[in-house]
Amino acid sequence: MGKTAKISGTVTVPGDKSISHRAVMFASMAEGQSRIRGFLPAEDTLRTVGMMIALGVEIHEISPTEIRINGRGMRGFDEPQDIIDAGNSGTTIRIGCGILAAQPFVSIVTGDPYLRRRPMGRIVRPLTRMGARITGRRENTLPPLCIEGGGLRGIRYEMPVASAQVKSSILLAGLYADSPVTVIEPLPSRDHTERMLLSMGARVVREEREVTVHPAERLRPLAITVPGDISSASFFLVLAAMVPGASLCLPGVGVNPGRIGLISVLRRMGADVRFASPREEGGEPVADIVIEGRGLVATEVPPEEVPALIDEVPAICVAAAMAEGRTEIRGAAELRVKESDRIAAMVKGLSSLGVSCGEYPDGLWVKGPARITGGQRVESHGDHRIAMSLLVLSAASGVPVEVDDTACIASSFPGFPERLREVLG
Ligand code: S3P
Repeated sequence: MGKTAKISGTVTVPGDKSISHRAVMFASMAEGQSRIRGFLPAEDTLRTVGMMIALGVEIHEISPTEIRINGRGMRGFDEPQDIIDAGNSGTTIRIGCGILAAQPFVSIVTGDPYLRRRPMGRIVRPLTRMGARITGRRENTLPPLCIEGGGLRGIRYEMPVASAQVKSSILLAGLYADSPVTVIEPLPSRDHTERMLLSMGARVVREEREVTVHPAERLRPLAITVPGDISSASFFLVLAAMVPGASLCLPGVGVNPGRIGLISVLRRMGADVRFASPREEGGEPVADIVIEGRGLVATEVPPEEVPALIDEVPAICVAAAMAEGRTEIRGAAELRVKESDRIAAMVKGLSSLGVSCGEYPDGLWVKGPARITGGQRVESHGDHRIAMSLLVLSAASGVPVEVDDTACIASSFPGFPERLREVLG
């Protein structure tokens, strides 16, 4: 093991990715000018900005993190003149298709080689049942997707997997349908769409596992400050949790109950995590997160807990590598269809660093505490969260690790390597 730096101080994390995407899309649909502060200017969210510009929306950059959007109204978009490129962003293509499915014109959306391998049947099926005509490769399941929208009807749809992207796509299309749309979730997924649409005057009703949206004529513009992204914060939370004596404060982070599964896991593993100055911003709960590291112990993450920590599993695997005992995560098959197959990518990466771990079809196990072996080149598989997790393991263990592709980090957290270096002093 190498030498671990003293970890203390304050780390600010960029704006929430899920909320930034939604703010740009929904503000584009609103009537009037919206003001968005704390916007995440990353590759993924800028793809959503590009999609809305392609639909004729005027978006003004006041600063990298503040934008103004002149909404076109729900029915004021132009037909895009060219193919829309969603890059690496699943949120852009999946939620965006919910809007495009309702427009009386043809749109074509594609993405980078990683996105073009990700399943789209999960949005194509319900949007087609609502009346949109969508075609794509492999029997309409892979991008590019060609969407001929308009003339939507209300449906009641039982989702086979918990997915906020799928839920949001259907709810947005539902705003344009001829009758209400109800989505039934197997487990609750993040509810940023419901919160934001409510704040814009839409009728959205949640009853246990069901969410219903009523058709709308118009949406009010937004004036919001996007909270810090708990998923970006997770890398620093895990870093501090792993190092006994570490102490970090992360101010202004979103702590929506649908996103904070990692906090419960870290507490069970032994970290001291507190929410200071809890408050609400733009309908979302926000707090300053204060964490102190102690020796960690292993834990079990059951399927019910997975939706609230789905993007944090790579980071949890890293904590598990440094914890005493065997950690197991199950009910997480969705990880196989993220930006990479995150189960395979983490098991491969951790194994090559000397960590004892293995795969299940729907999860993985990790046994710690590991003695990390350095001098290896590990693969991120072009996946930002895999890259950041492996860099954090290197930082916590003090063992240099070379990650092959770190450019992908810019899709969610530009400036991450610099911020990590600052924290490590
Ligand atoms: C997101 C939902 C999740 C998450 C993704 C962002 C969103 O995906 O993994 O990073 O903004 O709605 P799924 O909807 O596929 O679970």
